[in-house]
Amino acid sequence: MAKKIIVANWKMNPRTESAALKLLRAEAKLKSKRARIIICPPYSFLELSGRLKNRPVLGAQDVFWAEKGAHTGEISVSMLRSLGVSYVIIGHSERRALGETDKEINKKIKIALDAGLNVILCVGESRAVHLRGKGAVEKFVGSELAKDMTGQDASKMKSKLIVAYEPIWAIGTGKADAPEDSARMAGYIKRLVREKFKIQNVPVLYGGSVNSGNIVSFLSQSGIDGALVGGASLKTGEFGKIIKNI
Ligand code: PGA
Repeated sequence: MAKKIIVANWKMNPRTESAALKLLRAEAKLKSKRARIIICPPYSFLELSGRLKNRPVLGAQDVFWAEKGAHTGEISVSMLRSLGVSYVIIGHSERRALGETDKEINKKIKIALDAGLNVILCVGESRAVHLRGKGAVEKFVGSELAKDMTGQDASKMKSKLIVAYEPIWAIGTGKADAPEDSARMAGYIKRLVREKFKIQNVPVLYGGSVNSGNIVSFLSQSGIDGALVGGASLKTGEFGKIIKNI
């Protein structure tokens, strides 16, 4: 069976370099035959992995859509690559909430794939859309995917694209989605990606209040290939339990 993909998204945490090194060291030690673990620290802590004997698989939480130039505050794909990063989260809802558009996300995916990075593309609906029902959710997520993936090189996406389904209302709230509902969405995403982009069985992760108590209920659903873990990835013990429970 294919390994499950577990992504630790630290977001803007922890506060200090020493705390980050401690967390990275602990999470780099986690091993599982059943899971591929990808750690996504903030940019400023990515280089800490160079200090470890066993380097973890590293992801970044974002990237800029241009290769170089006058873009104050931004980070390029080659900068990430030079730090040993092999995955990048693109289009997280917390970035979309800051104004990131599907057009920008589309350009970020393109430059990341061209650089050989694995892309973890986040999609997911707000509570308002969720309340309108299944059809509205599919329409919303389908439209995000279409806009973000349009014009991308299918051969690159085939091996390098992962989609994370993250209902916004489930992120950081302690109220995870019903695993059956997420599995249905994972099926919908796979179908859409297959029909529109001719990519078979794109890996789909679930994200939103994942913890050691609910991880199995998500990963046991067919079609859910892993999880994007936020808050619980900041607690070494809890994250260790998630990995152990897989
Ligand atoms: P959470 O975050 O696990 O804290 O809900 C998930 C995410 O935003 O990726």
